[in-house]
Amino acid sequence: MAIFVERKKINDMKLIIRDNSAAGSLWAAHHIADAINRKAAKSNEPFVLGLCTGSTPIETYKELIRMVKAGEVSFKNVISFNMDEYVGLPESHPESYHSFMHKYLFDQIDEPAQNIHILNGNAADPAAECEAYEKAIEAAGGFDLFLGGIGEDGHIAFNEPFSPLTSRTRVVTLTEDTRIVNSRFFDNDPNKVPKQAMSVGVATVTSSREVVILAFGPKKARAIKDAVEGPYSHMCTVSALQNHQNGIIVCDEASCGELKLNSYRYFKAVEAAENI
Ligand code: PGA
Repeated sequence: MAIFVERKKINDMKLIIRDNSAAGSLWAAHHIADAINRKAAKSNEPFVLGLCTGSTPIETYKELIRMVKAGEVSFKNVISFNMDEYVGLPESHPESYHSFMHKYLFDQIDEPAQNIHILNGNAADPAAECEAYEKAIEAAGGFDLFLGGIGEDGHIAFNEPFSPLTSRTRVVTLTEDTRIVNSRFFDNDPNKVPKQAMSVGVATVTSSREVVILAFGPKKARAIKDAVEGPYSHMCTVSALQNHQNGIIVCDEASCGELKLNSYRYFKAVEAAENI
């Protein structure tokens, strides 16, 4: 037992590998709900949660919505900050991240409207907007948990390759690759995808007390390989998690497809030993 408790304290980067995205999404939703409930059980302080958009988190959000409706978790004392928003896209545009978040999460849970924060991609002074966002995160007490996805190029939030691992919230230019990938939401026309976004920085994410990254499907396999086995590098910004005390990547078998067998076995063995 003593050994078990000792092992539980090991806080290196972890890979939680599930058979498929459905199982991974359930694991993530329950992990987030547990974290919210654990904090609520011991303090009245709000739970500060970082949130992401994209195809990947939708199933996790569905399960969180189910849990809220079933009374298994509440977002009444959750303060959330989203990781990014396109610059210049009206908030009411169906592909804005404001629209996405309301559709897939906020309209169906009990988080108070004043606790929801999403960068204003139409701010008159974008630099001031980004600076104020960082200050608001700090004033809320810093992130307890940051939920993110990753891009095929290993980006975390819109921190494309070559974003400093020390970066903070700022205006970023999207790469051609990301605009091509995201064009599926813009009539398959990369020219309709905004060229810039506001994004939390890599360091904004890694300063969270816990980071949970979702990566499902074969298209994320290269990013997972680079994140886990590659160097700690601005070439793959999610590799910043290698230096995090409490970083978890939730994968499925397909997104682990390019890992070395020994890496795969290592993370499976760590999970079995720690029983997380
Ligand atoms: P996706 O996007 O969930 O739609 O794959 C993730 C990302 O680009 O960060």
